[in-house]
Amino acid sequence: MSTFLRATEIPTHGAMTAPASWFTSPVRYARELDRIFHRRWLCACRSSDVAHPGDYAVRTVGTESVIITRDEHGAPRAFHNVCRHRGTRLCEASRGHFDAGIQCPYHAWTYALDGRLVGAPHMSGTEGFDRSDWPLHAVAIAEWEGWLFINLDREPEPFATAFAALISRFARFRLATLVPARRIEYDVRANWKLIHQNYSECYHCSPVHPALVRLTPATSGENDLYEGPFLGGFMVITQPGGSMSTSGRACGLPVGELPHEDLQRVYYYSIFPNMLLSLHPDYVMAHTLWPEAPDRTRVTCEWLFNPATFADASFDTDDAIAFWDMTNAQDWHVCELSQLGVSSAAYAPGPYSSRESLSVAFDAEVRRSAGD
Ligand code: FES
Ligand SMILES: [Fe+2]
Repeated sequence: MSTFLRATEIPTHGAMTAPASWFTSPVRYARELDRIFHRRWLCACRSSDVAHPGDYAVRTVGTESVIITRDEHGAPRAFHNVCRHRGTRLCEASRGHFDAGIQCPYHAWTYALDGRLVGAPHMSGTEGFDRSDWPLHAVAIAEWEGWLFINLDREPEPFATAFAALISRFARFRLATLVPARRIEYDVRANWKLIHQNYSECYHCSPVHPALVRLTPATSGENDLYEGPFLGGFMVITQPGGSMSTSGRACGLPVGELPHEDLQRVYYYSIFPNMLLSLHPDYVMAHTLWPEAPDRTRVTCEWLFNPATFADASFDTDDAIAFWDMTNAQDWHVCELSQLGVSSAAYAPGPYSSRESLSVAFDAEVRRSAGD
């Protein structure tokens, strides 16, 4: 059984907020890409985004570009987006379909969907050349609950080890069966950690989210993960049959086999380093975070529903999407104001409140994984 603690019951040991360099320094940013984003498992996309052999999606991870595709046998694959001839970027589009393998636009070397080099024009006269020596550089890939995760480390920690605490934790939500209704991308002028820190506390909810606190009291949270890479717990939906939506009512069928208590809870988990997973009774919202610069992060937000919801005209999935699109904008705005403030010469770390204990735990995980 999990132990649930209120945010104020989790010790913060007098923690202070992070130094300005965490949010502004290119050196610090490069270190976090190297130690965190290029070594940890990242949520890349839904498995259904590459549903068929040859479908692909491209993700940018700092300086790296990764092709995620599905091979002829139906297995998900990921490769560096780098030709083995002269290094040219293979795919420019963010998604698409390979009709005849993965072909480099420069000299037309062609790779099979499993990464093997299968065509290299006019290379037969090159002494010692053997196509089998030049497959695409593979990137580790794993599937969990309908999402594909990638890991750029050459010797990654096995996904099952890294995600042991989460592997079957959300089984009752049947996440793999859910279907996306919408995806929205946001360009947020703030460091990726400010977005995590914001997600990790509801101290800001009363001033920033007046509509949200009418549905779920800002102090109702209890957490069952409060140390390490995965943090979070639930908040209470006040209204029976309610949800987080513009109307305040559920806007879909229950997402899984949920016990009664889960029908009035929203579970919020930050999954280090790039996923925020919000589990509502009637839909699931997933954010992914993609750092673009010390002061800039691309955020995707996707809303997933029980597929039977789409066939029921009494449900309007926009009720949830509009609510969170508004709430996201409120969060991004304060994150952007934070970015501006911590970039000032006047900024110095301030005291965290007892209600920000998960933000403190997040900072500790950053320090651990960055090797501070
Ligand atoms: S760089 Fe790709 S084929 Fe030459
Ligand atoms: Fe918020």
